[in-house]
Amino acid sequence: MNGADRPLVELAGISKHFGEGDTRVDALSEVSMSVMPGEIVGLVGPSGSGKSTLLNVIACILEPSSGRMRIEGKDIYDNRWLKGNLRRLRLDKIGFIFQFHNLLPFLNALENVAMVRELAGASSAEARARATELLDYLGVGHRKAAMPATISGGEAQRVAIARAIANRPRIILADEPTAALDSQRAGIVMDLMSQVAKEQQAAVIVVSHDEKIFNRFHRIFHLRDGRLETVESAPVQANASGMQEP
Ligand SMILES: Nc1ncnc2c1ncn2[C@@H]1O[C@H](COP(=O)(O)OP(=O)(O)O)[C@@H](O)[C@H]1O
Ligand SMILES: [Mg+2]
Repeated sequence: MNGADRPLVELAGISKHFGEGDTRVDALSEVSMSVMPGEIVGLVGPSGSGKSTLLNVIACILEPSSGRMRIEGKDIYDNRWLKGNLRRLRLDKIGFIFQFHNLLPFLNALENVAMVRELAGASSAEARARATELLDYLGVGHRKAAMPATISGGEAQRVAIARAIANRPRIILADEPTAALDSQRAGIVMDLMSQVAKEQQAAVIVVSHDEKIFNRFHRIFHLRDGRLETVESAPVQANASGMQEP
């Protein structure tokens, strides 16, 4: 595949501060990291260490204060945003799973997922078929017609995950995606993330406190006070999902 040996996400000296003077908070200080296609990495650290800020910067939702960032080898940020259409970039390239699901309350589960396919140009029939396939896989197919307010937190999180991957993004960012799930459901979600990383050669970045899923990561980045401390290689358990390796 074209570009298989080049990082999908590259950050060089990214800093982000909020406020100025006495109230200034340095949320990220000179963070440099890269993630390759097919890689699933963990981002861990204490509360307030900058994990969500870093994820939002990579998602092009939050503007850094300085540094450089590339997505798929293209310069996106160099002390300012470089690419005109960040909304399009987010829609086409990035799937984001928020800590709290933020489904649209006036659309049912199926429509929440199908909508992002339609925004990306799919027909209504194709969008609904893709949404059905993903919801079935995640074990929430029976909740297709339910409105978000009427389903459990764990079900809503799985719908949000289906929505994040519906457009087969090359970059998937997840903020504590398994926090609301029991360990069996968390396992299903991590299976899916691993499968997406491998099959779509996506870069998957997961913020997590859940030590049970650390063995799913190829590498673990530790953040402390906005600084990247160590990059730990964690051996991924072969066949952890029970799926057959080719
Ligand atoms: N919008 C904001 N305005 C001011 N300070 C913020 C904002 N967002 C985050 N921070 C601060 O930046 C630091 C990192 O926050 P965050 O990235 O949310 O940490 P984590 O996700 O690791 O818990 C914290 O000190 C937090 O209070
Ligand atoms: Mg956070």
